[in-house]
Amino acid sequence: MGTSSIAQQADSRTDVANDDFRARLHAMWAGVAGGWREYAKDVDARGSAVTERMLELSSLRPNDRVLELACGPGSVGLAAAQRVGPAGEVVVSDVAAEMTSIARDRAHALGLANVTGRVLDLESIDEPDDTYDVVLCREGLMFATDPARGAREIARVLRIGGRAALAVWGPRERNPWLGVVFDAVSAELGRPVPPPGTPGPFSLADAARLAALLSDAGLSHVEVSEISVPLRAATFDEWWDRTCALAGPLTQILASLPAGSAERLRSRARESAQSYQTDNGLDFPGVTLLASGRRDGRVHR
Ligand SMILES: C[S@@+](CC[C@H](N)C(=O)[O-])C[C@H]1O[C@@H](n2cnc3c(N)ncnc32)[C@H](O)[C@@H]1O
Repeated sequence: MGTSSIAQQADSRTDVANDDFRARLHAMWAGVAGGWREYAKDVDARGSAVTERMLELSSLRPNDRVLELACGPGSVGLAAAQRVGPAGEVVVSDVAAEMTSIARDRAHALGLANVTGRVLDLESIDEPDDTYDVVLCREGLMFATDPARGAREIARVLRIGGRAALAVWGPRERNPWLGVVFDAVSAELGRPVPPPGTPGPFSLADAARLAALLSDAGLSHVEVSEISVPLRAATFDEWWDRTCALAGPLTQILASLPAGSAERLRSRARESAQSYQTDNGLDFPGVTLLASGRRDGRVHR
């Protein structure tokens, strides 16, 4: 199944087709899990400042029960597990079983006995109400087909007094490390990728909208801030290979292109990347939005 078919479907989606569309997106993520396993340590390193801020914003405490959604290789959940201590608990979860396995395997390798793995869709969290002290989700909510539903689900599983900390990418033009690849793909295919209004890395890049999602879900003390997340790579190939392996929807599109088309696209990206060339390699700027909130009382279900 190619992602081009996902993109085409997105344009003509109906409620009836929604479940199928969602299932295809989830299968797409399962298909790129190999790349996330390979680059797990790079993912940890690049996102380490975001992880730290998320743990601070969630006021993580020893003994807390923590849920990480859309965990991928589990950078945030594994860091949380070291803070909550042996009497605390962290559930690392992802809609793709293959991603959850990566986080679980890494917890095992680190000797973190307080981590368990679960396959969970953040739009329909298969957990009872009021069960977690903290919910963490880094670069996940923007891939939901219905992020408002995801936000309501986060609020629902929080206990009273529980905290949520989320991260999503800021605007595309401020994240050229990925934006220039999307621009090159869009130019090559002759249509915007991802199609407007569909889930994607930049679909929650509006801070006011992000804050409203959490407030409308019933969370209080909602705050949104931003943090710089640059991407540095020694060479064009290093950046290109890593980005193509991790970039979800893009990864499948790139893999499905005929050789000539893929080569043209790569040349376009190489040309755009030159603006970010320094004496030490490529240095792209990047921006992530951090959002946090607290459950004080009844939430909107
Ligand atoms: C860009 S990766 C981020 C991974 C990890 N949180 C990180 O920051 O390194 C997006 C992750 O979201 C997961 N995902 C996408 N849609 C999801 C959904 N509806 N529910 C749960 N996970 C989802 C994907 O499987 C993938 O692991």
